[in-house]
Amino acid sequence: MTMFAESSAPAKIILCGEHAVVYGQPAIAIPLPTIRAIARAFAPKSFGQKLRILAHDVGEEFSFTDLKDFDRNNPLLLAANLFFALNKMDIPDLTVDITSMIPVASGLGSGAAVTTAFVRVLAKVTERPIDDNDLNKIVYSVEKIHHGTPSGIDNTVIVYEHPVYFVRNQSIEKFAFGNPMTFVIADTGIGAETHLAVADVRTLYDANIQKISSIINEIGHIVKGVRQAISSGDNKKIGQLMTQNHKLLQELTVSSSELDNLVETALSCGAIGAKLSGGGRGGNMIALVDNLNTVHIKDKLLKAGARKVFEVSVGNH
Ligand code: MEV
Repeated sequence: MTMFAESSAPAKIILCGEHAVVYGQPAIAIPLPTIRAIARAFAPKSFGQKLRILAHDVGEEFSFTDLKDFDRNNPLLLAANLFFALNKMDIPDLTVDITSMIPVASGLGSGAAVTTAFVRVLAKVTERPIDDNDLNKIVYSVEKIHHGTPSGIDNTVIVYEHPVYFVRNQSIEKFAFGNPMTFVIADTGIGAETHLAVADVRTLYDANIQKISSIINEIGHIVKGVRQAISSGDNKKIGQLMTQNHKLLQELTVSSSELDNLVETALSCGAIGAKLSGGGRGGNMIALVDNLNTVHIKDKLLKAGARKVFEVSVGNH
C-alpha cells in the first residue's frame, strides 16, 4: 500500500441515441476530458478506522467497516465492496476524499465519473491494478443504483475515456473524429434524474409498443447516419440528424420547455444542429457549431437562460 494516490475520470456527453440505446439501438457518446471527478486516497500508518469516504460536493461522509453489513444503495460503498471482493481483500485503513467539477443530475455522467475515479484510486493506493474491463463492470453495477436499467453507455465512455459507438451488450467500438468539430454545451441548470425519464419512456413504450418502437428504430437509424457522416466528415449532415434526433426525443416526452428553448436559440443563431443530451427533462443541450459563430451562440444561449455554457472541440486541428 502506498501513502497517497490520486485518480480522476471525465464527464461525458451523448451526441445522439440516448433512450433508444436502452432498447438495443446504437448511441454515440464522447468524454469531456476537462471536466472531471477527482479522488484522493490517504493511508496514514495508524489510522484504524477502516475506509472513510469524504464526498465534499454532496457534503457527505461515511465509513466502510464491514464487508457483509453495509448499505448496498450507497454507490461508493457498493463500489468499494465490489473492488475488495474482486481482489479478495479486507477493508484497508484509508481515507478517500472526493471532489467533482461535474454538476449532478445534469446528463454529464457525474455518478459514473465519481465511481470510476473512486475505484481507480482504491486500485492505486492498495497497489492492486485494475484493468478497464473489470473497472467498467464495477461502475456498471453501481450505475444500476442511479439508473435502474442503464444501457451501460455512461460508464463505458467514462471508463475508456474515448468516443464510443455503443450498442448494449455488444463489444465496445471506439472511434476517432477525423474532421474537426466544435460543440457548444448549454446547461438548463435544472437537475433531472435519468432513471425517472427512462422509467417514463418505458411506461410510454408499454402503453403503445408499435408507435414507440418505431420512434426508437428511427433514432437508431439517425445514429447510424451520424456514424457514417462522422467517417465522411459531413458536419452539415451530422447537424441535421442531431436536430431530427431532438424532435424524436420530444415525442418520447423527455424534452422540456427549457431544453426546447435552448435548442431553438442555438439553431436560430446558426448552429448546424442541436438537441438535448442525456436523460433529458433538464440537464444539458448540445449544439454542433461552426467555429466562426461560437462566441455569438454562447452569448445568446446565456441570454436565453442557460445557466452555464462551454465549448468542446474534437477531431484533428
Ligand atoms: C443517459 O446518459 C442515457 C440514457 O440513454 C440512459 C442509458 O443509456 O442508460 C437516457
